[in-house]
Amino acid sequence: MIDILLCGCLGVMGKMISDCSLSDRFSDKLRIAAGVDVKDGPDVKYPVYRSVNDVDLPVGAIVDFSHPSLLSDVISYALKNTLPVVLATTGYTEEQKKVIENASEKIPVFFSPNMSFGVNVVADLVKKAAAVFGEDYDVEIIEKHHNRKLDAPSGTALMLADAVTEAENRPMKRIYERYSERRKRTNSEIGIHSVRGGTIVGEHDVIFAGDDEVITISHSAGSRKIFAIGALKAAVFISDKPAGLYSMQDMID
Ligand SMILES: NC(=O)c1ccc[n+]([C@@H]2O[C@H](COP(=O)([O-])OP(=O)(O)OC[C@H]3O[C@@H](n4cnc5c(N)ncnc54)[C@H](O)[C@@H]3O)[C@@H](O)[C@H]2O)c1
Repeated sequence: MIDILLCGCLGVMGKMISDCSLSDRFSDKLRIAAGVDVKDGPDVKYPVYRSVNDVDLPVGAIVDFSHPSLLSDVISYALKNTLPVVLATTGYTEEQKKVIENASEKIPVFFSPNMSFGVNVVADLVKKAAAVFGEDYDVEIIEKHHNRKLDAPSGTALMLADAVTEAENRPMKRIYERYSERRKRTNSEIGIHSVRGGTIVGEHDVIFAGDDEVITISHSAGSRKIFAIGALKAAVFISDKPAGLYSMQDMID
């Protein structure tokens, strides 16, 4: 039984993770033993601390769906107690990604901006398409999320852009808006566009536009459950792994 410390436990994803942890799929493998959140919320069945540094009971793993500002506390706590960490929060800076990489030399770290299996299979399909289409096809990515989302573009859109550049193996500039630069697009760029509104859970389209044809590879999340299930599976997956940086790809392979 893995005792999990859930960071961001009173947020939308935190509540979904708490609920999923009680399902038959996970209840014999893990439980949420404690949570961390800065806001007040409804009573939950485990103690909630204001800061990771206040946690005073033993836990076996950390799952984080909170805010990038919590990263340094989470990593310090995990290193101090040699704990595996699942990082699902998005919007980390390049510097923070380096911190994550460095930590993974000492502890197992599972890091994915999208915990759904489906999106990670989509990333594979995007890689295959980009490798075949190459510079003859213009690539544009459109992502849509709910109006509470803080970061833009989404971590998943960036992950899909990475999949394109990795497969095409050439520098491709990311263009996040076209209003300020009035010029023709080149074939060495990826347009990335963010839409925010209502309660959209998460939609991603990767468009390959060539001469006389358009291929669109899409993913649409019907509910946040897919992310919660992926994150809890990730916690089980890394619980017995050696130090290293793990992603959904490692669980798929
Ligand atoms: N990887 C994935 O598959 C995936 C899926 C959905 C959401 N996310 C990401 O997870 C994060 C949370 O998403 P959400 O929709 O649950 O947001 P949310 O705003 O509903 O929840 C975030 C929670 O974290 C808490 N929090 C913020 N800063 C904190 C701090 N410094 N210390 C402790 N608690 C803090 C907030 O009070 C809140 O309860 C976001 O970064 C989001 O993009 C990732």
